[in-house]
Amino acid sequence: SPSDPDLVERARAAKEKLGDKVFILGHHYQRDEVIQFADVTGDSFKLARDAAARPEAEYIVFCGVHFMAESADILTTDDQKVVLPDLAAGCSMADMATAEQVAECWDVLTEAGIAEQVVPVSYMNSSADIKAFTGKHGGLICTSSNARRALDWAFEQGEKVLFLPDQHLGRNTAVRDMGMSLDDCVIYNPHKPNGGLTVEQLRNAKMILWRGHCSVHGRFSLDSVNDVRERIPGVNVLVHPECKHEVVAAADYVGSTEYIIKALEAAPAGSKWAIGTELNLVRRLANRFAAEDKEIVFLDKTVCFCSTMNRIDLPHLVWALESLAEGNLVNRIEVDKETESFAKLALERMLALP
Ligand code: 13P
Ligand code: SF4
Repeated sequence: SPSDPDLVERARAAKEKLGDKVFILGHHYQRDEVIQFADVTGDSFKLARDAAARPEAEYIVFCGVHFMAESADILTTDDQKVVLPDLAAGCSMADMATAEQVAECWDVLTEAGIAEQVVPVSYMNSSADIKAFTGKHGGLICTSSNARRALDWAFEQGEKVLFLPDQHLGRNTAVRDMGMSLDDCVIYNPHKPNGGLTVEQLRNAKMILWRGHCSVHGRFSLDSVNDVRERIPGVNVLVHPECKHEVVAAADYVGSTEYIIKALEAAPAGSKWAIGTELNLVRRLANRFAAEDKEIVFLDKTVCFCSTMNRIDLPHLVWALESLAEGNLVNRIEVDKETESFAKLALERMLALP
């Protein structure tokens, strides 16, 4: 079983044997059994920076999903090897924008005569190919903790933004944080000719939102918010910006996983919180803050794990660490040079944001 003391001991022993050669990164959505071995935990922005700040580690074991491991490979040196303990740990949102679809979209924007005004902004939750497309066309990457600053930067470079692949983060940031109207946003559907948009719609739009979403955060609804407010009077509703616009509009606070943790740390004793993000993190926070008399509940009544994040479990971590300790490089994630150089440009523009 995952909590098997034998596996815990094996992971500890393999990590000790590897010493400074290995650095383990854990995203906040990872299981407890994995998080206990992380050298650092964080949201995707913090982990990208932490990976780049460890040039002495030969192996970066990324407990998270594929696009995060790719980003770590892009930001680390050529000698460093990034390992993803289970190669099936992808992200359904990142998969919603393929390189072919995005190239086709750019053709549509070019034919509409607006490509020159458009700056691509891609959420960290995208493949290295999409990040490279973004860098090539003068754009940058953002995460849920800096989407506002990234969009401010993009609108200094051009009049319109193509936001990939999460329509919700794009819309929520534009409308909630920047005061744009819903009418300023259009949705580009890669499965329809011309994205399902007329030339006029494209010319009038300020935000062209890719039709992608997170299946985990997409489960929260306005009903979840109304129900919890009824169930727990005085509750503070705090949600991730990958939630739908109506959920974000009805919430009290909105922010990345790192923001959520800081808000709960700062919350007064006796306060009550309903959190709209992945369940591993919410459960961990509920346990951690129970001792400080902060009541933390999950925003929805149904279970809401990220199934791909959950693929990284203790058996996979043990296997990866023991393999590395025996000198076998397994599950390396390596982005090709050409893709890496353009993707790095887009990531570095993000890291340089004020
Ligand atoms: P952050 O880590 O940026 O909060 O994003 C959450 C997420 O969905 C990661 O896949
Ligand atoms: Fe992707 Fe959503 Fe899982 Fe994050 S929570 S890895 S966006 S599917």
